Amino acid sequence: MRHDDGSETDSGHQLDQDHAGEIPAAGLFSEAFWDERYRSSSAVWSGNPNPQLMAEAASLQPGDALDVGCGEGADAIWLAERGWRVTAVDISTIALERGAAYARQVSSDVAGRITWQQVDLLEWGPAPQTYDLVSAQFMQLPAQLRVGLFERLAASVAVGGTLLIVGHSPTDLHTTAARPPLPELFFTAKEIAAALDPSLWRVIVSEARPRVVRDPDGHLVTVHDEVFAVRRAWPAGRRARHLPIR
Ligand SMILES: C[S@@+](CC[C@H](N)C(=O)[O-])C[C@H]1O[C@@H](n2cnc3c(N)ncnc32)[C@H](O)[C@@H]1O
Repeated sequence: MRHDDGSETDSGHQLDQDHAGEIPAAGLFSEAFWDERYRSSSAVWSGNPNPQLMAEAASLQPGDALDVGCGEGADAIWLAERGWRVTAVDISTIALERGAAYARQVSSDVAGRITWQQVDLLEWGPAPQTYDLVSAQFMQLPAQLRVGLFERLAASVAVGGTLLIVGHSPTDLHTTAARPPLPELFFTAKEIAAALDPSLWRVIVSEARPRVVRDPDGHLVTVHDEVFAVRRAWPAGRRARHLPIR
């Protein structure tokens, strides 16, 4: 929820802090866990698009987008409102049904531009070099699962397209913000950058960006979003063909 002072209650992206320690990490990525989480509240997230998506995608030319772990669909709807054709994927059918209902409330045009698809991202691989934008917001996975997912997502970015990965910074664990006490779920933008072939990508942004939120006691606290955006380079030969001949 956004407040008049510009802060947000950071319920948007927390896992259940009280129970996180009791759940085997693998359970955090299961359909049963997330369906239960969505069933527990009529709206788990704020309904606002993620600020780092808005910052990085507002100036992009609309095309085909993949919203990874789309939750209740605020990002997918924001993209569709700007003309993107969106494939929005999540493991929870409850979240997907909510997203589809919200999109219909916005307009039939917006709803018609979004395909909602239930997938298990630990196994599913999107089609290679397909999307002009792949956005993964707060997919907090342990390293061995995260690396594979981010590789598959990178492979699905079309030439000239953008890969945008945003996550909670490991430094948030030293704040009062609601974060699960599971350090293995946290990553930095620089860690993601190190895993990509620099000859294939142009780095747009790789940084920890501050954001003011309210903690569970209502106090303002500065957290950081790890923001990583890269553009897939044009192969040298293809770019050359588009150069004007003089
Ligand atoms: C922290 S939420 C982020 C939601 C949304 N991206 C946002 O920023 O508001 C993580 C999302 O990933 C989904 N998810 C978790 N594990 C998944 C998996 N194995 N396959 C697909 N989606 C998964 C959850 O259902 C949830 O909607």
